[in-house]
Amino acid sequence: MSFKPRIGIIMSTTRPGRFGDTPTQWIHDIARQRTDSEFEVVDLRDYPLPLFEEKLPLVYAPVENPVAKRWAATIASFDGYIFVTAEYNHSVTGALKNALDHLYAETHRKPATFVGYGGVGGSRAVEHLRHILAELHVATLKHAVHIGMVEMIGMLREGRTMADYPHLAEAAKPMLDDLVWWSITLKAGRAATA
Ligand SMILES: Cc1cc2nc3c(=O)[nH]c(=O)nc-3n(C[C@H](O)[C@H](O)[C@H](O)COP(=O)(O)O)c2cc1C
Repeated sequence: MSFKPRIGIIMSTTRPGRFGDTPTQWIHDIARQRTDSEFEVVDLRDYPLPLFEEKLPLVYAPVENPVAKRWAATIASFDGYIFVTAEYNHSVTGALKNALDHLYAETHRKPATFVGYGGVGGSRAVEHLRHILAELHVATLKHAVHIGMVEMIGMLREGRTMADYPHLAEAAKPMLDDLVWWSITLKAGRAATA
């Protein structure tokens, strides 16, 4: 196989002292050991978007804000996505939702999966994110990694690291296998019907 899909690892939080760097770095380190795909971290801090203020919904007109154009170009460059999502008030973060509102065609017919973190592994945020991504024509996959309260307390208060929780790396393996398969398959499908 010569085609290597490009997969974006999208962060969801921007606050100082965020935990999000830990799971993002962890999944990036695991993913980039693969030789069948390429991975790149996308940090929302690098895309200081306004709260959505485009004149039209993007289904009707291209985005105009310069930061949003840059964000959209970055997202368009990927064949698949891993969302590293925190859970804020039982859902996705406002920063991620606003960033997704600035997209439309860039994500069509591409797959996504998730590394969630929070009290119940970010699972409520992940499930909400699946609904949001449906509107962006993203194919969300079954496998995900959920980093829960026990692991987060261990890392935040007891000096533990992601390596102390090997079941998380075990969960990442089928998630990445499936995401790469879908990224290659949907890329071929998009090319065949372009
Ligand atoms: C505004 C806000 C709302 C939160 N709501 C939830 C929640 O509903 N469920 C949950 O499991 N954790 C919740 N948390 C705790 C987060 O899981 C925890 O702070 C996590 O570290 C946030 O990700 P971050 O550090 O990358 O910002 C909330 C945190 C914030 C700041």
